[in-house]
Parts: sequence; C-alpha cells; structure tokens
Amino acid sequence: MNMNLLDKYNVRGPRYTSFPTVPHWDDKNFSLKKWKNEIKNTFVNYNDDEGISLYIHLPFCEQMCTFCGCHKRITRRHDMEMPYITAVLTEWNLYLEILPKKPIIKELHLGGGTPTFFSPENLSFLITSLLKTAIVPKNKHFSFEGHPNNTTREHLQTLYNIGFRRVSFGVQDYNPIVQKAIHRVQSFESVKQVSDMAREIGYTSVGHDIIFGLPFQTQKHIEKTMAYTEEVKPDRIAFYSYAHVPWIKGNGQRGFLEKDIPNALEKRAQYVLGKKHLEQMGYQEIGMDHFALPEDSLIKAAENKLLHRNFMGYTSSKTHLMIGLGVSSISDSWTAFAQNTKSIEEYQELVKEGIIPVAKGHILSEKDEVIRKHILAIMCQLETSWAAENLEFENLPLVLDSLTGMENDGLLQIDRKAQKLSITEKGRPFVRNACMAFDFYLDDDKNAEKPIFSKCI
Ligand SMILES: C[S@@+](CC[C@H](N)C(=O)[O-])C[C@H]1O[C@@H](n2cnc3c(N)ncnc32)[C@H](O)[C@@H]1O
Ligand code: SF4
Repeated sequence: MNMNLLDKYNVRGPRYTSFPTVPHWDDKNFSLKKWKNEIKNTFVNYNDDEGISLYIHLPFCEQMCTFCGCHKRITRRHDMEMPYITAVLTEWNLYLEILPKKPIIKELHLGGGTPTFFSPENLSFLITSLLKTAIVPKNKHFSFEGHPNNTTREHLQTLYNIGFRRVSFGVQDYNPIVQKAIHRVQSFESVKQVSDMAREIGYTSVGHDIIFGLPFQTQKHIEKTMAYTEEVKPDRIAFYSYAHVPWIKGNGQRGFLEKDIPNALEKRAQYVLGKKHLEQMGYQEIGMDHFALPEDSLIKAAENKLLHRNFMGYTSSKTHLMIGLGVSSISDSWTAFAQNTKSIEEYQELVKEGIIPVAKGHILSEKDEVIRKHILAIMCQLETSWAAENLEFENLPLVLDSLTGMENDGLLQIDRKAQKLSITEKGRPFVRNACMAFDFYLDDDKNAEKPIFSKCI
C-alpha cells in the first residue's frame, strides 16, 4: 500500500450505517408526533409485502473491554435484567399502539452490550412475549451477538428453539498481549467450543468479529488469528478496522497509550494480510469490512445487487421499517430516523410514563433521499449511477469534480457518458472516502472543535 495514498485519504469519516449520519441529524425539524406518523405510514405501505425488522439493544456487560466503542453499562448485577426487559416490552407496546394491525417480524437482531449477559430464561421470556403480539413468517432471520466467554449451551439452545439461526461471536484477536491490553482474555479453545456447539445445535450461520489495528497488534498476530480462524471456518467474518474514538463519553477506551496503536501504514498492512488469508480460505469480500463463504446469503445478495446496509450492518433482506428497542437504539422508517435516550434510568422512566423514549431524530428531505441512494449503492454495490432523472441533484458536477483525485489515483472510475461511477479493486479500502464526496453535511464539520468520526483507515 502506497504511503501517499494513505496520507491523502486517511481522514476522519463516517461508516455510513445511515445517511444522514447521526451527528448530522436535524433534530429541530423532528418531533415525536412526526415520528409516530412516519412509522405508521411506512408500516401501512410495506408490512404486508416485506414485514418489519426489530433490533433490541441489551446494554449490560460484566467486564469493560477497553477497545469497545459500543453503548454499554458495565455491571455484575443481574437483578437489572428483569426491569430492563419489562421496559423493552413496554416500549414495544407503545409502538403496537401506533401500528394499525399485527406486524410481521421478518428480522430480529439482539445486539449490545452483551445479549448473553441475560439468562436464557429471561431472553426467552423477552422474545416469546414479543412474538406473541406479531406474525412470524417462515423465511424469518433471527440473529444475536454472543460473547464467547458467557454464551452457554442453554443460551444457544433456548434461542434456537425460538427460531434464531444466526449468531456472531466477538473474537477480536487471539494474542494474549493484545487481549490483555484490550481487557478481554478468551482462549481459542473456548471460541472453538462455543462455535462448534452452535453448529451442533443447528445454527446455519456462525460469524466471528475480528479487528485489525488494535493496541500492540502486529501482522504476526493477524496471521496467527487467521490460522485459528481457519480451524473454525465461520460462515461470515466481520473484519473491522479498530475505531479509536476515545472522546465518546463513557466508552472506556483506555488502558493503553496512543503510541501502542499501530500507525496507518501498519494498520493497512494488517488489513491486506488478513484479507489475503481470508481469500485463500475461500472467503469473498462484501462491501466494507465483511467476508463470507460463497454459499452465504450475503454473497448471493451482493451478486444479485440486493445487498442492503442499515444500523445492523450489511443484510441480505431489506425491510423499509426497522424499529430499534432499548436504550440508545436507532430506528429507521426509511423516511426518518430516531434514536432512543442513552440513559438506562431515563429510558425506564419514560416508557413507564407511556412515552416512546426517543431523544433525537431526523426527517429525510428529498435531497437526503437521493444522496442516500448513491451512498447505499456505493457501500453495497461499489458503484452508483445518476442516469435516471431522479438520481441527479444540483451539486452533482461539484461532487464529480471532487472525485477526480480518487479517479486519477485509480481508486474509482467515472464514466461520464454512461453517467456512473464504480470503485476499483485498488479503491476498495477507500469506499468511505467516495461516499464522503456525496455527503454535503460534512461541509459543516470543518470548524468542529472535537473530532466527530474515526479515521477511514
Ligand atoms: C457490540 S459488540 C457485541 C458483542 C459482544 N458484546 C462481544 O463483545 O462479544 C460487537 C462487535 O463490535 C466490534 N467493535 C466494538 N468496538 C469496536 C471498535 N472500537 N472498533 C471496531 N470494532 C469494534 C467488535 O468486533 C465486537 O465484537
Ligand atoms: S466488546 Fe462486547 S463485551 Fe466488550 S465491552 Fe463491548 S459490548 Fe461489552
């Protein structure tokens, strides 16, 4: 990898799980009343044909991993489980009051925090109570994030019995020095055991999350982690770039120094090496950060240009309505976004009072919708086109101008006659940079006092 390219393109940028991204939401033009309307309209338009998706945020973890950028509460108090579950079910009932008929729950994802912090019985109670109020289609996709250190056979079996078929385990890196620095010690044996157990029970997709660019991580560690990974051969792999965002309040990214984090060149080399190993093992890269075996539904979706991206990452089945339950969860009605409060106490208080606990949101403008189409197409298909009239927008010439640098560097190709652009293989690592050219909100960040996003590389 060329250092000049890294210098040039390693700027801070969003990961585009939404557009507009959360820091650019226009909260002034948003209200709970408008949000309820947007939810209802999208539900009426799409529920019968495609169903809806539910994301449930389960925020507790027993231990603080010092690399983690997710929204969580560290505690060993398991008596917090039931009050939290009650609040989530109350929140769901508040949404049911808006929906004119029983929803079809096509997709359900439990994220965190650590969903497996909760006992199997409590998880079962939460999910079965929720599903009783809905229609569950045959072709549903239920998945959860499991922590290898506390996912038990009972967790896996209980969730399997309710219909979960996909699980992803946080692996990060197997090296003891790296694990100590990130305060997350877990052996290869325990990861293999829990992955094998999931397969024995009947899970059809077992995923591993691996990170490059962690403190003290080297290319040797990536090689070793990949060798271990080959022994388990997960169906999907999320190969994330470590996002260093210590300014986000309460995420606990500490316990190591800035100098312990690999520099951009080393980080890139780790990615290239990891990717080479994954491809040798038969994985194919999808969009950004993700790899899967050829028979996986994500690969099929990518081949058929049906890959979609939302707050849960890449998915093969798009629904226009995604309701996020739980503290800090984000919902997407396709025409608007909303995020719940991040405080557990406030969350529980608000739902008890019968208020949907939304803290902020955004209603998409027509221009937002056009730009979102381009950004989604680039993130998922690695190409976009403005040949159709409704995909042009007034500052398109400026956007294309600003991309000529990337074009000259061989990172993307612009076909002005056919009115389309595509990311080249060399440009794959810079896909976020291409999206940023379309993101007109970024102009407002130039004078921001604090950084807003992690670096692209
Ligand atoms: C929110 S965690 C939930 C999974 C579960 N709590 C666990 O740790 O196994 C999901 C994944 O996000 C990724 N992640 C968290 N913080 C990150 C960061 N700062 N940079 C890159 N990836 C991160 C990790 O790979 C992690 O496995
Ligand atoms: S990585 Fe997982 S277990 Fe660790 S703090 Fe983050 S959410 Fe909790």
